Amino acid sequence: MIEIKNIKKIFGERTILEDISAVMEAGKCNLIIGTSGSGKTVLTKCMVGLFRPEIGEILYDGTDMLLMNNDERKLLRQQIGMLFQGTALFDSMTVEQNVLFPLDMFTNWSLAEKKKRVNEVLDRVNLKDAHKRYPSEISGGMKKRVGIARAIVLNPKYLFCDEPNSGLDPQTSMVIDRLIKEITVEYNITTIVVTHDMNSVMEIGDHIVYLHQGRKQWEGTNKDIIFSKDELLNKFIFASEFLQDAKEMRMMEANAANKKNG
Ligand SMILES: Nc1ncnc2c1ncn2[C@@H]1O[C@H](COP(=O)(O)OP(=O)(O)O)[C@@H](O)[C@H]1O
Ligand SMILES: [Mg+2]
Repeated sequence: MIEIKNIKKIFGERTILEDISAVMEAGKCNLIIGTSGSGKTVLTKCMVGLFRPEIGEILYDGTDMLLMNNDERKLLRQQIGMLFQGTALFDSMTVEQNVLFPLDMFTNWSLAEKKKRVNEVLDRVNLKDAHKRYPSEISGGMKKRVGIARAIVLNPKYLFCDEPNSGLDPQTSMVIDRLIKEITVEYNITTIVVTHDMNSVMEIGDHIVYLHQGRKQWEGTNKDIIFSKDELLNKFIFASEFLQDAKEMRMMEANAANKKNG
């Protein structure tokens, strides 16, 4: 579990994040949603220690990351898997070498042990025959799978994915979303997914934090979101045609159920 308290982040004269508190639960997909520029990436970068907030606490299972010394923070980093836009695959390395990389960095396992673990995670993301291929030789969806395999190879307790569906078609996006969700439940990972994709929200949104202009505007589940009366949130979700349909359908279902019951 990760708990953030009263996070404030300033760049220059601009306050980017103001007083954000939230809890990210283990074994769940915790989503951070909001329009472009609302502060999603900055907040996640604060949470993994890439940015330091001016005010606030970032508690990993009760311990404030901001108060850790370098060694403690290093250990924590090894428990965090990341699928960020900035942590793209190494083009000059094969799929296998890409996934091996964190093991080379952080373990002193034998090559045989490392290869066994690489096979396990590549199997887990349904990539069995791509070991020797280069990123340029595989599809966008496959690249994301390799990214996920690499992010989980060290068996992390926490997994951060910033816009994991960017550049993917809707069908591939759904496959990737489901994979992230399955892995989260299977390994009881505290997963944080940043997205502005409402399909993802409905598909995997166990717990959702909605940011608006650097503040937490709303928090709830993907079941709550349908009936939310928050105007800004509604404006955000109604920008998505898919959700408009989904919302209307659920409203109709709920009304029908109400009539039947009473
Ligand atoms: N390194 C930085 N320095 C200054 N401003 C930044 C930096 N990173 C992001 N910002 C600003 O912070 C705001 C939130 O950005 P970001 O978190 O990337 O938005 P999102 O991920 O929700 O699209 C934006 O206005 C952006 O310009
Ligand atoms: Mg972003």
